[in-house]
Amino acid sequence: MCGIVGYIGNKQAYPILIKGLHRLEYRGYDSAGIALLDDDTNLHVYKTQGKVANLEAFCKDKNISGTIGIAHTRWATHGEPNDVNAHPHYSQSENLALIHNGIIENYITLKQMLIDKGYTFVSQTDTEVLVQFVEYVKNENNLSLYEAVHQALTQVVGAYAIAVIEKGNPNVLIAARKGSPLIIGIGEDDFFLGSDASPIVEYTKDVIYLEEESIVQITRGQKDIVIKNLDNVDLKQNIQKIQIDLSEIEKGGFPHFMLKEIFEQPKSLLMCMNGRVERQNVVLSGIRENIEKFRNTNRIIITACGTSWHAGIIGKYLFESFCKIPVQIEVASEFRYRHPVVRKSDILIAISQSGETADTIAAMELAKKQGTFIYGICNVVGSSVARLTDSGTYTHAGPEIGVASTKAFTTQVAVLTMMALTIGKELGTIDDATYHRISKELSQIPQKIESILSHAERIEKVSKVFTYARNFMYLGRGYNYAVALEGALKLKEISYIHAEGYPAAEMKHGPIALVDEDMPIVVIAPKFGIYDKIVSNVQELKARNGRIIAIVSEGDDRIAKIADYSIEIPDVEECLTPLLTVIPLQLLSYYIATAKGRDVDQPRNLAKSVTVE
Ligand code: G6P
Repeated sequence: MCGIVGYIGNKQAYPILIKGLHRLEYRGYDSAGIALLDDDTNLHVYKTQGKVANLEAFCKDKNISGTIGIAHTRWATHGEPNDVNAHPHYSQSENLALIHNGIIENYITLKQMLIDKGYTFVSQTDTEVLVQFVEYVKNENNLSLYEAVHQALTQVVGAYAIAVIEKGNPNVLIAARKGSPLIIGIGEDDFFLGSDASPIVEYTKDVIYLEEESIVQITRGQKDIVIKNLDNVDLKQNIQKIQIDLSEIEKGGFPHFMLKEIFEQPKSLLMCMNGRVERQNVVLSGIRENIEKFRNTNRIIITACGTSWHAGIIGKYLFESFCKIPVQIEVASEFRYRHPVVRKSDILIAISQSGETADTIAAMELAKKQGTFIYGICNVVGSSVARLTDSGTYTHAGPEIGVASTKAFTTQVAVLTMMALTIGKELGTIDDATYHRISKELSQIPQKIESILSHAERIEKVSKVFTYARNFMYLGRGYNYAVALEGALKLKEISYIHAEGYPAAEMKHGPIALVDEDMPIVVIAPKFGIYDKIVSNVQELKARNGRIIAIVSEGDDRIAKIADYSIEIPDVEECLTPLLTVIPLQLLSYYIATAKGRDVDQPRNLAKSVTVE
């Protein structure tokens, strides 16, 4: 949800900023812009609607030079995506330029106050209000840029990561964060800013993950950075090493990040299980250390958004089966606002790939106020979710860049499975034989995914048949109900085909009315307990001329006979089937979307990380 890049040093800033914007484009691509101070310390802003490539084309014949600059890629919140609303925004005098990720909630009050003082506005954004307000505070009180940003922010309500530069002040870059992420990279003689580590990793591995409510002054040529909180108290500079490699954030020969990430799943699951699943046992230190909390709780609440919420539904089924603890699964945006009953004795599990989803963070804060123990499942090391938890497990999927989540989902499900097995074993709610059998099968999942991926061509062929469709239905039961939701979400996100996921048996309570010869229905039906009932569901659909694509177990001879197309997955324990059944659905969405010419890595209106409500 908006990406921020910044540079100050002795290199030319423009190429670094543009490259950084490309790396952060997954966060929003409504517009992009750049502000630099040239060698005469004049301030220039270049910005255009649309993707970073448009900005590059716009800047191509311009003579852009300068060694300090800031850049932004936008996911619009206030004001439509156009050139004027694009960041950076100038202040009234055009002495300041500012970029912002977040929302200034009291911008209307501030704007009115500034209008009364004679300020005029060109955009509809809350960000322009902020830069004007900083300038107003600066001029009124004759302050330095740092002091002005600090004073202004004490009067701002909302969430922000910002960076500001000033005409005639080429040695100072100011940044601040509250609620939105911001990282400083420390180079040899230069400094970098990024919403995440991807624009920085090529230049340095030393970074500072800024604390909440930090304000920073970076001064050219000075090793020490000033970092204070809103109360003007010095914060310590905790320099950490970035854990990602450049190769992980590049496409590696695949046409899209999404396809790369789908094919990466065997590897990401190996990394996720590395040192955790061994010799038919699972060792999850975050759980072992806190096992008494799980022994003594009456309830687990799982909260998340989007794909992570789908993983959470599978978590509920796993925990209730193997740990015998009641589990409530909650969409974070609903949970945080509906006055839920949360007790100190509950355990809240928050799941988030990015670790920056605003609603998930708010749900965690709500539970934290009650003293609830919070366990996190998160991919991004050092993210806000990771920092808010009492304990947790990283998924170690590696950076996920495609906006539609794929490897994050399978690694989250793997972590939830490892958690359920560890808790079940410790509490004695799972018998030894089942525990060892599932642990062993879990360790074999990467090979089984490889074997599904090796038949990707067949899925591509099937996908070609269905590019005509305007609607899709996805049906699953038990563990695969959540996979039906996830399959439908993937298709919606990247192909813009309307799709609904339903529990297979619920279909006859409404959705079956939609079925006719034009309706493709994806049925997820591995051979387990209620398989017979799914066979009946499929027959009901076929009787109404529905076109069935079935995901079935190897050697299935019943559904495969009724379905128009069937895709096999290797045999596996029932509770592990989502890790396999989701793979063909990811591929199906990908191939349908690419056949329709969609931009799968950057689908319209979406952003990878939703840091606003
Ligand atoms: C956005 C992304 C989804 C993701 C959801 C939750 O909507 O487009 O792919 O599942 O946010 O994100 P999180 O980072 O918290 O898992």
